[in-house]
Amino acid sequence: MTLRDLIERKRDGGHIDAADWHVFAHDLAAGTLADYQVSALLMAIYFRGLSDDETVALTEGMLESGRKLELSHLKMRRVDKHSVGGVGDKVSIVLAPLVAACGVAVPMVSGRGLGHTGGTLDKLESIPGFHTRLSLSQAATQVERIGCVLIGQTGEIAPADRTLYAMRDATATVESIPLIASSIMSKKLAEGLNGLVLDVKTGAGAFLPSLDDHLTLAQTMIALGARHDCPVVALLTNMDSPLGVACGNANEIIESVQSLKGGGPPDVRELVLRFGAEMLVLGGVTDDHADARTRLERAISSGKALEKFREIVIAQGGDPGVCDDPSLVVPAAKLREAYVSPRDGVVQRVEPRAVGKGITAMGGGRTKMADLIDPTVGFQLLAKPGDRVTRGQPLATILARDAACAAAGRAALDAAFVVGDGDMPRLPLISHRVTADGVERLA
Ligand code: URA
Repeated sequence: MTLRDLIERKRDGGHIDAADWHVFAHDLAAGTLADYQVSALLMAIYFRGLSDDETVALTEGMLESGRKLELSHLKMRRVDKHSVGGVGDKVSIVLAPLVAACGVAVPMVSGRGLGHTGGTLDKLESIPGFHTRLSLSQAATQVERIGCVLIGQTGEIAPADRTLYAMRDATATVESIPLIASSIMSKKLAEGLNGLVLDVKTGAGAFLPSLDDHLTLAQTMIALGARHDCPVVALLTNMDSPLGVACGNANEIIESVQSLKGGGPPDVRELVLRFGAEMLVLGGVTDDHADARTRLERAISSGKALEKFREIVIAQGGDPGVCDDPSLVVPAAKLREAYVSPRDGVVQRVEPRAVGKGITAMGGGRTKMADLIDPTVGFQLLAKPGDRVTRGQPLATILARDAACAAAGRAALDAAFVVGDGDMPRLPLISHRVTADGVERLA
């Protein structure tokens, strides 16, 4: 079938055979497809969806468009974590060295910012010298040597997804369950994992609108993992407001290092420990979550987690001084401006989409794949929903390049912060745990 036939069939709600999805993924990776036709197919998928069989075929086609990280000879089990995407979400940067320090290999392939959400790679690249473009053989050697690598998708790892990911961002077709599931799982299955934990974000800042959608997304990815002997555990976590205090690339590295040293905001620490415990259990270090948590806490307090991060930074060409005083190493914003509460009251909302889009408007995210980003811009968010505040109290600090950039930041915070009168209950950080055995409600 030609690509035009596929578009027509999907537009009309029809089914596309596995062989055609494989050819599509192959041609995408080869770069032989016209952008306008791929865009049209994406929009048809967005509206019509994919059947389970089609999602499997697209995922496996994208997986087979590249190569796999070959680590089956390692004694350590390999477990990774991936987030569907959030604002202020630096959990992966803390988690990967921490879990590796506890004896589980973490070959982590991460993405760049997508839509209003930030990307682990963009954050890591704000460490001077740190490079994320390693070949598969360099990545494998690093995992063998130090138990962890933090890389981006190269032409070798699910290259069809790399193309599709960028096109989805540019065509407003990110918010689709089969497209998100196939994108994440094609990359993760290329890592040759023994287990995977997924952070499925819920709430105002999530890509998908409803709890049912989040559960379906989690179950779709669990089913894709099961076909490749990769057990998947998904935690549904709240993204009604940004995670932690720091938002913006360099700024989030500073908070990550604070968290690796045992500080950092409580919500970041809690997610790190919960995901870490799942990873240690999947990695066979222990079968008890409480024991796993104790091991993780010990790795932080003893400095082992930070030392593992230092090894990773050195191995990937970064300035290891970031582990000592990151604020002296990552590039700093030229301008810092307080954003204050317009009234007495209770913070009702800190809208993550407005914060994420604000960072993009300030130059810290992309509107086109080729855009260069400014790692210095962002926010320190000093108040959370439920906090009582007084008129003139700083709600945030704007980190900007110049006055125009600060004005864009202020406009974003005007849209993000709602201060009202009523009490605002704090929402649970983790609401559900989903595995192949079913859905557990945690809150
Ligand atoms: N992360 C990915 O890799 N792909 C998506 O579609 C969303 C988050």
